[in-house]
Amino acid sequence: MALKACLFDMDGVIVDSAVHHFVAWKRLAEELSIPFTEEDNHALKGLSRVDSLDHILRLGHLQLDEKTKVKLMDQKNAWYLDLIQGMRAEDILPGAKELIESLVAEGIQVGLGSSSRNAQLILDNVGLTPLFDTVVDGNHITLSKPDPEVFLKGAAALGVEPADVVVFEDAASGVKAAKTGGFFAVGVGDKGQLSEADVVVDHLEEVTVDQMRTWMEHGLG
Ligand code: G6P
Ligand code: MG
Repeated sequence: MALKACLFDMDGVIVDSAVHHFVAWKRLAEELSIPFTEEDNHALKGLSRVDSLDHILRLGHLQLDEKTKVKLMDQKNAWYLDLIQGMRAEDILPGAKELIESLVAEGIQVGLGSSSRNAQLILDNVGLTPLFDTVVDGNHITLSKPDPEVFLKGAAALGVEPADVVVFEDAASGVKAAKTGGFFAVGVGDKGQLSEADVVVDHLEEVTVDQMRTWMEHGLG
């Protein structure tokens, strides 16, 4: 296995937008009188918009028709867009830009693999789009994480085999997607929640390209 490319999840890995998703979903859940805690929110990370809504409705034992669900998702997204519209370069998480720049400098391809339909907007707002060789987001996939589709499409777009790609993920569903797809998975965040990852780091600040090569050579950290 050789390090040929990296695929980054966006929410919670490149920018701290995961918190904005939580705020908007919590507001919606409250309107539906469904209790929704930060703990509940962990399960939503990496899921598509519709899978997230279904999860919340299940928490409240609520069944709604498709038309109402679309209205609720549009409302949540409008609140979310309000929260992210001011995002700028300062909102990039520590170490993310530096790591991506060092990958580019070493000729290692860089892609985005996000379930979010707003991914391109955020990448543009924070000024990272020019560093990415490919962007695969919620608009390009039919199955959201834990299905590996988003990462497999990213690898295909870059012309590389999953075994030669490192995936960075903050969500358990995303780590599962990466491992199911045959990628090397680096969890960013809590070791307990990301136990299926090959390696878990607190922040991207801790990661260097040389270290990634060593991880891949040895199969783990
Ligand atoms: C990401 C986030 C999820 C979010 C999903 C869809 O994967 O981790 O929390 O629900 O994208 O985002 P969207 O911006 O399309 O509603
Ligand atoms: Mg994420």
